Amino acid sequence: MPEQYQPDLLKGRHVAVTGGGTGLGREMALRFASLGASVTVCGRRPGPLEQTVADIRAAGGRAEAVACNVREMESVEAFVKEAEERQGDINALVNNAAGNFLAPTTGLTPNGFDVIVRTNLYGSFYATQACGRRWIERGTKGAVLSIATTYAEPGSAFLVPSAVSKAGVVALTKSLAAEWGVYGIRLNAIAPGPFPTEGAWSRLSPDGRAAEKMINLIPLRRAGELRELTDLAVFLLSDLSSYLTGEVIYLDGGASLTSAGQFNLFTEPPREQVLEMFERLRPAKGSK
Ligand code: HXC
Repeated sequence: MPEQYQPDLLKGRHVAVTGGGTGLGREMALRFASLGASVTVCGRRPGPLEQTVADIRAAGGRAEAVACNVREMESVEAFVKEAEERQGDINALVNNAAGNFLAPTTGLTPNGFDVIVRTNLYGSFYATQACGRRWIERGTKGAVLSIATTYAEPGSAFLVPSAVSKAGVVALTKSLAAEWGVYGIRLNAIAPGPFPTEGAWSRLSPDGRAAEKMINLIPLRRAGELRELTDLAVFLLSDLSSYLTGEVIYLDGGASLTSAGQFNLFTEPPREQVLEMFERLRPAKGSK
């Protein structure tokens, strides 16, 4: 894909990315670094974090890794402190770390519910508060990007802990956009549709069949490309979006539109068949 951004668009940014060892977090970290940002990634497992850092450095970028469990406030605070000691003041945060699994709600254990909500919602709150406090105290601007989901607002069967926690992330984004706008702090979110990454796909569509069905419900008839997501993330963290705050941007090829309207199912069969059916349903001229 050709480069659309200035090569130094994110120069002078220090971006903290939670869950930056794998999946979307890793892709975003690589992209930010390729546009001149210093990146500090955190996550529970040092191995993948070190790999992200090594890949960024090999491409000539600046990156550090700090092990952290976003479910624990102390761990998040230590991450932010350590990141700033190593690479200077953070001025952009990406709340990306998330957990998810498909399960009937009747069988969820308290701990099963807890681990997802703590990771997705508490983790985002802890990191946002830790960065926001610093920015306000220093009188500097900041940008927060959170990864939400398209089912945060309508909800989703079999994903209750994820849906409720992501709905909370959306509320956090909008609430703090209102509360902290006066300090020049912007908060936005991306609600991604299917972007195939190993972690999410192996959990949510283990045999590939659910993924195939999902694709058929997307007006653009394909999954997202990672670069399409990382480029939107760049836009939202950069000054290109300096008047945008409190927004949740659906990046889903239109998928949420088709799942909302019952008659959108007519976009699935070949168009000629559908048009023929519409003709058959049309009353004959002069019959009324
Ligand atoms: C029911 C489950 C379960 C399952 C775990 N649990 N998996 N319950 N069905 N499939 C319960 C366990 O029984 C346990 O409760 C509790 O959850 C904690 O499980 P652990 O395995 O001990 O926890 P941990 O090792 O911390 O693992 C957390 C995890 C794991 C979320 C379950 O999958 C993980 O770390 N995932 C991180 C990466 C991830 O999920 N990425 C995908 C994000 S995709 P008990 O009571 O037994 O102790 C995404 C959006 C996708 O969010 C959107 C696509 C369109």
